[in-house]
Amino acid sequence: MTDIQSLETELLGAIAAAGTLADLEDIRVKALGKSGSVTALLKTLGSLSPEERQVKGPRFNGLREQVTAALTDRKAALETAALDARLASERVDVTLNPPLAPRGSIHPISQVMDELTEIFADLGFSVAEGPEIETDWHNFTALNIPPEHPARAMHDTFYFPPDDKGERHVLRTHTSPVQVRTMLESKPPLRIIAPGRVYRCDSDATHTPMFHQVEGLVIGRDITMAHLKWTLETFVKAFFEVDHVTMRLRPSYFPFTEPSAEVDVQCSWSGGELKVGEGSDWLEILGCGMVNPHVLEACNLDPDEWQGFAFGCGVDRLAMLKYGMTDLRAFFDADLRWLRHYGFSFLDVPTLSGGVGA
Ligand code: DAH
Repeated sequence: MTDIQSLETELLGAIAAAGTLADLEDIRVKALGKSGSVTALLKTLGSLSPEERQVKGPRFNGLREQVTAALTDRKAALETAALDARLASERVDVTLNPPLAPRGSIHPISQVMDELTEIFADLGFSVAEGPEIETDWHNFTALNIPPEHPARAMHDTFYFPPDDKGERHVLRTHTSPVQVRTMLESKPPLRIIAPGRVYRCDSDATHTPMFHQVEGLVIGRDITMAHLKWTLETFVKAFFEVDHVTMRLRPSYFPFTEPSAEVDVQCSWSGGELKVGEGSDWLEILGCGMVNPHVLEACNLDPDEWQGFAFGCGVDRLAMLKYGMTDLRAFFDADLRWLRHYGFSFLDVPTLSGGVGA
């Protein structure tokens, strides 16, 4: 009996003193494991006489239960202590501002405008701006669209009521008036792009009353259509991120350019996905031409000294083509699900080296 008592004291003491769960497990194995001390005692029961077994059986089993219970209690105590220590060390200061999680996204239109700016900046173009409420003269007359010119009717213009002097302002119908403002304000040579909002009284799946254009203007002494073609080719390759592109300049008419052309790029729509630079389809992407001498004169430039080219292109359409969006109206619905799906991370700034559409 003394043996059992000292074993009991020893085991319970060790359990109480165990500092870690690993120590405790060690004790358990040594006492209750296959060749543990308590297991060894229990094994002796078989060889005892029935009288002895009656006395020792309950004693040995009692010891096993006591040790098991002590192990369970100590384990719970150690776990609670460990949790307390962890909670103390991981305490949160609720008075601190929460860490900033990235929120919001860059709208595809802003993204495409940034991509355009990056591409043209690399070609030496700076960005010019003009007002969205424009004079009739800047929006039309200076661009060789005099009053009564049929081209005015094609623009579905939002007119303001005439002011005291009888002058009508308009919501600009295109970004071309920025050409006029730039030529009046700065001395040539000039190389600018002008991205911005424009307005026309029109609305369906491919037209919205407000949309976006980017205008380009180059004025110099020996500028030709060859410069125009190279510039546009370089732009299309960079924008659609392809090495090769075939372009078609289709003769067209714009009052502010002469000659004028519309530009198509070769593409394929196989599998419903647009691929620029291959296939047998053509995609119209912009209008362009050599700046009409009348426009140069309206801007006080001598057409015998200065020539230039201009182009104008729908930004929304470019965004739809590049990023596969089908309904223009969704651009302006402010639907968070759409914005999360099509938006861009504000950390992915377009760069030519990193990929403009990164
Ligand atoms: N302003 C024209 C439009 O809104 C687009 C355009 C065509 C602009 C030819 C140009 C150009 O500068 O040369 O439809």
